[in-house]
Amino acid sequence: MNVRKKIIAGNWKMNKTVSEAKAFVHVLLKELEEYSAADVVICPPFTALQAICDLLSQSSSHVRLGAQNLFPASHGPYTGEISPWMLREFFCHYVIVGHSERRIHLGETDLFINKKVKAALSASLHPILCIGENLEERQQGLWKEKISQQLQIGLKEVEEKQLADCVIAYEPIWAIGTGKNATPEQAQEVHLFIREEISRLFSLQSAQKLRIQYGGSVSPENAQELLLCPDIDGLLIGGASLDVRTFCSIILNS
Ligand code: G3P
Repeated sequence: MNVRKKIIAGNWKMNKTVSEAKAFVHVLLKELEEYSAADVVICPPFTALQAICDLLSQSSSHVRLGAQNLFPASHGPYTGEISPWMLREFFCHYVIVGHSERRIHLGETDLFINKKVKAALSASLHPILCIGENLEERQQGLWKEKISQQLQIGLKEVEEKQLADCVIAYEPIWAIGTGKNATPEQAQEVHLFIREEISRLFSLQSAQKLRIQYGGSVSPENAQELLLCPDIDGLLIGGASLDVRTFCSIILNS
């Protein structure tokens, strides 16, 4: 039986001012007052963490805060960067690492991302490790190699007991922001492969416990059928998480 609790996260990317973020969270908390079926996470830009942290701390909601990035050091001469401990000050529970936009625009490598995963874990944050192939790799049938490498390096030296604190997000690059999501069949095939790889790298038991989200053009129209797939344990939502009513409708209908 699948006992993995679903996790639905909104990645706002570089969107929303502090006042927009506060207005969003006010509505979200109202809409989700009674809701606890899935873990709900919002990942705003750093600038809105404090304001949202304040709002969440005044409510009894189960909504959790996540950051979109961290730097793998506790402090030091890293201009413009934010440490895992700084995120802890805002009661962040989750942090996204290895998003393809950072891999592409900022040249982040699997090895650097691995440092971030370990830094997050050492600060008791739950890393959401993003992996996924680009269109060319999919068309050439190379997605297994790509996913396998991202997992193997991204989770290097992560202890088996720490894996329980990790979430993997499968985000095919060709589906991000394109309006063209992976079909449930395509996504399920990759999620199953990820679980098999985790089983190979760690153990079957750990693989069965690991939560694997899907991300890439998730919408109210496709969310339910994606979540019905046996190995899809949640969603990492970009564009459709920016409108609070749309985000809530995905959560409440899942
Ligand atoms: O991290 C979420 C993501 O990259 C998917 O974005 O806009 O296609 O839902 P979007």
